[in-house]
Amino acid sequence: MSTTTITSREIRLASRPFGEPDEGTFDLVETQVPEPGPGQILVRNTWMSVDPYMRTRMNAGESYIPPFEVGAPLEGSAIGEVVASEADTIPVGAAVSHFAGWREYAVLDAAHVQVIDVENVRPQDYLGALGTTGLTAYLAVTEIAPVREGDVVFVSAAAGAVGSVAGQLARRFGAARVIGSAGGAEKSRKLTETFGFDAAIDYRAGSVAEQLAELAPEGIDVYIDNVGGDHLEAAIESLNDHGKVAMVGMISTYNATEPSPAPRNLPTAQTKRLTLRGLVVSDHFDRFPEYIETAAPLLADGSLVTEETIVDGLENAPSALLGLLRGANTGKMLIRLTA
Ligand SMILES: NC(=O)c1ccc[n+]([C@@H]2O[C@H](COP(=O)([O-])OP(=O)(O)OC[C@H]3O[C@@H](n4cnc5c(N)ncnc54)[C@H](OP(=O)(O)O)[C@@H]3O)[C@@H](O)[C@H]2O)c1
Repeated sequence: MSTTTITSREIRLASRPFGEPDEGTFDLVETQVPEPGPGQILVRNTWMSVDPYMRTRMNAGESYIPPFEVGAPLEGSAIGEVVASEADTIPVGAAVSHFAGWREYAVLDAAHVQVIDVENVRPQDYLGALGTTGLTAYLAVTEIAPVREGDVVFVSAAAGAVGSVAGQLARRFGAARVIGSAGGAEKSRKLTETFGFDAAIDYRAGSVAEQLAELAPEGIDVYIDNVGGDHLEAAIESLNDHGKVAMVGMISTYNATEPSPAPRNLPTAQTKRLTLRGLVVSDHFDRFPEYIETAAPLLADGSLVTEETIVDGLENAPSALLGLLRGANTGKMLIRLTA
């Protein structure tokens, strides 16, 4: 197949946002797709992941992952179909997972993609429950803040991709009681009705600390922190001695223009002998096979319940990311591409 005539579209970072990004932060640009060279494949992307950490990559400065460059396309996890191949190992027609999202077509070295099985698994699950958000949830409750039999566990952003899986896995690994927090009445109802949490906090309806104290009068043993700020402060207050916190994410701070004042009670972490441990999922990609072995059967038999929020079209990806940061999603936020 000749690829010289293929036009692709990609989303570039137009400027670094200060505070909340807006549509002007992004550019939608048409490009001409190059021919794949030796050892390369041309992929037509079909699904793209939208993730909160993308906001942090819009800031300048080094972190565990380099910042996006102004004028360059964004990137992120994506699934696609091989439409041309100059690599012996990957045939045309294969479904692949890779990191060149935020564009419709990508030319990639075969060594940088994974061929995926889409006969038995829905392709988009590789971006969610069987992808990095699922693995993050698994690591949080098994390794970073391991849940023990009988624990009381609190999960924030619990209606989201990581949180909804973390709550269910915490229960499976022995938690006696799992409490989740989410924004709004509808989402917090979903925690108990859909995702199997025992109790839900609507953080928009009142103080997290007061609601948590009421729902866990004997305290909590493990906190899976996706939010930081007031949620972390409330958890530190409620944690029992020797309690554990998996510091998974701090979404309440991603658009902040000043350092967060909370948690104001960090000294309590010392007197309670708490463990607060950070997680970067890419440090643990070698655990994927073990995770998939655990989670794929649960997903297949329906005992791991997932939801997704699907937005169609590359041109709508920026508003999907802005929406994610404001809570527009339940479960995994995905872009479906049909170009
Ligand atoms: N450590 C790692 O390697 C790793 C890997 C993946 C993800 N993460 C982190 O895990 C967290 C969840 O990621 P995800 O991909 O599963 O996203 P998600 O939870 O599916 O989506 C983000 C959710 O965050 C909530 N949120 C936004 N602003 C908030 C605020 N100020 N206070 C409380 N909640 C807020 C919103 O839900 P509500 O409507 O409930 O507010 C929104 O739906 C993020 O912090 C992310 O950075 C970390």
